[in-house]
Amino acid sequence: MIQVAVMGYGTVGSGVVEVIEKNKAEINKKSGEDIHIKYILDLRDFPGDPYADKVVHDVEQILTDPEVKIICETMGGIKPAYDFTKRALLAGKSVCTSNKELVATHGPELIKIAHENKCNYLFEASVGGGIPIIRPLNYSLTAEKIDAITGILNGTTNYILTKMEKEGADFDDVLKEAQEKGYAERNPEADVEGYDACRKIAILSSLMCGKNVKYEDIYTEGITQITATDFVYARKMGKTIKLLAQSKEENGRFYAMVAPFMISRDHPLYMVNDVFNAVCVHGNMLGDSMYYGRGAGKLPTASAVVSDVVDCARHIGKVIMCFWDNEDVVLTGIEQASRRFFVRVAADKESKALQTFGSASVIEADVPGEFAFVTDRMTEKEFNEKAEKVGILSRIRIEE
Ligand code: HSE
Repeated sequence: MIQVAVMGYGTVGSGVVEVIEKNKAEINKKSGEDIHIKYILDLRDFPGDPYADKVVHDVEQILTDPEVKIICETMGGIKPAYDFTKRALLAGKSVCTSNKELVATHGPELIKIAHENKCNYLFEASVGGGIPIIRPLNYSLTAEKIDAITGILNGTTNYILTKMEKEGADFDDVLKEAQEKGYAERNPEADVEGYDACRKIAILSSLMCGKNVKYEDIYTEGITQITATDFVYARKMGKTIKLLAQSKEENGRFYAMVAPFMISRDHPLYMVNDVFNAVCVHGNMLGDSMYYGRGAGKLPTASAVVSDVVDCARHIGKVIMCFWDNEDVVLTGIEQASRRFFVRVAADKESKALQTFGSASVIEADVPGEFAFVTDRMTEKEFNEKAEKVGILSRIRIEE
């Protein structure tokens, strides 16, 4: 029997307990041993909860119990999760986490500590919720040189953009409705400003290059400036707008960014709607592969945490390889990246815009007082210089 502790009995933590209980037979069979929850750490008490007798308030009880071999860290945030995780790993206890913030900030250090102590730090649930994406990158695609990852990694913003597209509604109205329904947080900043997706692509990018991509270095733009009018144009162009998190290696240069992009109907991410997430991975031998599913939510996320528990149970005393060195990757600034841009300007700037941008495809969408067009391919730097000269209303990057 393998004794497990769950740290943090919130949405994901209670989901972990539920998954282990409901799928007991499957999980025990696949682990090769019975998985038993010995402790649940939380500041609160849970009177009436079927697992109330397992709740403890002092982390020492878990960290000093030699029977506990695996810990699920579902607390979130850096403090005190970082300290608890580090101490658990130093004590040789494997940790399975859904905490993207901690993984993005201290991933390589915690992996190293785990390996030095013959245990594991696994984080399948930290990106894409229940979608298997960390394990494919670590195990399944090992024959590949992965050169691009593009994903829809945030369910809240994908829900908002899908609603804006389907209902012609504006950002603020859809956000309000999403908050009322509990799909968006009361403080939605981390989602709508792209910070959540930024941490997730930092993790995937680090696994792609085997070195550390710091989330602070990733250019990040959210969806707060996207309007119902942008979708009017997008529809005319046979496109939609998605918040993409992407990472590319081109001629030895690494680019990573999070921003809204226009994508066309033939793009594999076009049909990824509502709270669903998806990740496209490009390998130099395989070409494209895509991973799709529920990127958030209690049971999907808990299922990914428990899949890590099973992996740890199968590897007690052994290290599961994960290539993520401490060495920081120097990202190439996005001003060097080139693409086409969709641009809106006031109607009286039409000739100046055409003169400045040279050849451009005009988009007719009968929006009063405006002129809109798509530029030729150019670098962000070139685009910004021209846009400043003209004085544009807005722009959205186009993903080819
Ligand atoms: N707020 C996140 C999302 C939750 O909307 O995708 C999962 O990380």
